[in-house]
Amino acid sequence: MSMSSRRDFMGMALGGFTALGGIGALYSMKRTWEPLPSVKSAGFTTIDLKDYEENKLVTEKWRGKPIFVLKQSKELMAKTTDETKKRLIEVNGDHYMVCVGLCTHLGCIPGYDTANESFLCACHGGMYDATAEVTKAPPPRGLDIPPFRLDGTKLVLGETGPEYEKMLADGTTLKV
Ligand code: FES
Repeated sequence: MSMSSRRDFMGMALGGFTALGGIGALYSMKRTWEPLPSVKSAGFTTIDLKDYEENKLVTEKWRGKPIFVLKQSKELMAKTTDETKKRLIEVNGDHYMVCVGLCTHLGCIPGYDTANESFLCACHGGMYDATAEVTKAPPPRGLDIPPFRLDGTKLVLGETGPEYEKMLADGTTLKV
């Protein structure tokens, strides 16, 4: 390699290195501009409770979590106690169970058995009734209720209304 072509080569190598460095800097800037995952997922989910059928479990999604919605039938309401009734959301005389569908033991997704009107968590055999109150250990408590605000028959998940605040205050649910 002659002296001049060696210089050319060094120049090209250096130029290439600088270009790469520039791309690296752009990449890290772009990464910094992207919102954090928690901000990205901090959305709201609005559901209309009038669309649900009695004793038919529907799974919605909020912030990446499964949300169980179960409209209670008259038969189910006959089985509730004052304590379990606190877990339900009342709209126009109808009652709805709305909760995060993740077992409070170790986070598996329980299944709903329509015939027996109860949830079973297949991971370790935990059970919940139709209000998602725990009926068989190991889950330490009922399924957690997500923050919500009522707006007519609509439920805005992720916002906090007085009905949810009351549930938090009286210990019906933990904060999700
Ligand atoms: S994760 Fe549900 S019983 Fe263990």
